[in-house]
Amino acid sequence: MKKDTFTFTNNRTNQSYEFNILDSTRGPSVVDISSFYKETGMFTFDVGYTSTASCESAITLIDGEKGELRYRGVAIEELAENHSYLETCYLLLNGILPSKKELESFDLELRHRSFIDENLRMLIAAFPDSAHPMSILASGVTALASFYYEHLEMKKEEDCQEMARRIIAKIPTLAAFAYRKSLGVPFIYPDIDKSFTENFLYMLRAYPGGKMKRTIDGVEEIKAIEIKALDTIFTLHADHEQNASTTTVRTVASTGAHPYVAISAGISALWGRAHGGANESVMAQLEMIADVKNVDAFIERAKDPNDEFRLMGFGHRVYKNFDPRAKALKKLQDQLKDELTLDSHLMQIAERIEEIALNDDYFVSRNLYPNIDFYSGVILTALKIERPMFTAIFVIGRTVGWITQLMEFREDKSSKIARPRQLYSGK
Ligand code: ACO
Repeated sequence: MKKDTFTFTNNRTNQSYEFNILDSTRGPSVVDISSFYKETGMFTFDVGYTSTASCESAITLIDGEKGELRYRGVAIEELAENHSYLETCYLLLNGILPSKKELESFDLELRHRSFIDENLRMLIAAFPDSAHPMSILASGVTALASFYYEHLEMKKEEDCQEMARRIIAKIPTLAAFAYRKSLGVPFIYPDIDKSFTENFLYMLRAYPGGKMKRTIDGVEEIKAIEIKALDTIFTLHADHEQNASTTTVRTVASTGAHPYVAISAGISALWGRAHGGANESVMAQLEMIADVKNVDAFIERAKDPNDEFRLMGFGHRVYKNFDPRAKALKKLQDQLKDELTLDSHLMQIAERIEEIALNDDYFVSRNLYPNIDFYSGVILTALKIERPMFTAIFVIGRTVGWITQLMEFREDKSSKIARPRQLYSGK
């Protein structure tokens, strides 16, 4: 049967070229232009890859028009409400949700692998207290490549899975150490009696000796609602198909570099304000606006084409309706209102921004809706997590997505080194 094709006509030469159309299981079809240069002698031009599918993938689906996100076919809302982050990790890595026994064994293995080498601890200790946790985290993950150099050559699937489980288990410890370093307080080692998410909160909050803060009202234990909230945040961040940091991970992996170095590059890419760094910027912006009465003036600045000011936590390249992760976080925020102390002052400012922007023609006509980063800051603040750690929390959630994408890349026999071309305009 003849394949469907897409015809390009060069009206300079009147020559036509046909390229195959490839259909996705859901979402837009693609035109296979891999032989475009060979056949036409020209490149295609797509700054920021706004119309380019850079790979074939069976991990995550985003329907930007409907505001839908699925990992391995499972809706994000179902995962956020009825499954844990570890189940989500298992799903991403293995393609199916785990049985009870599989989950127990996965959980146990991650607990045992959560420790980091003492030399790596000393490396983190050598950073200045002023270091941003993201800088320490990216360096710590690059250093992990030295401690587990054997992951450079992985022949079997089980070796890849071990490499993946190892970094997922160690990332929270590295992030917690990075945080404590930035506060200038002693590191707290993982506690294998605690679940993935509880252990992370414990490593952030405990006093040396593993004791929790004591006030005149008693000991401040980690609450179940706090663990559930953070676990949901991790789930909502777990993967997001070919975004800037994931594309970075795939690009670095395409050169044959060590997998952990590729993840470290992903961490660096995530740090930027236009990407994962937006969650930190949202809070900084809310604090800068300072009062509900100032919101209108900042909205005007965001709309002014001559002003570089942008409303942080608004807009998304793919979602043109709403970001389902933001919707789930807003729901979580509402659920937490009665149980945790949310900063009502900052929430009032955020709600006013949302109200104006959702009704203002500038934002509506450009499909600018709140994204995941708009809501995460208020919740993380209620979890007593400091602002410089917000993007590191994103890293903990996203590591499984990056590593799953990297493994898919390695298994894809048609994969090549990423090497785009350019439209030369120099001398
Ligand atoms: N505030 C004000 N105007 C905006 C905003 C914003 N947050 N975002 C986009 N616009 C405007 C642009 O000025 C542009 O207007 P124009 O057509 O009149 O020139 C139009 O909307 C399209 O914007 P682009 O920058 O072309 O959109 P793009 O898809 O390239 O960018 C991005 C998406 C980077 C997310 C952008 O919306 C942005 O900078 N948002 C703020 C940062 C942020 O929240 N990032 C987190 C994204 S989610 C994530 O990475 C996890």
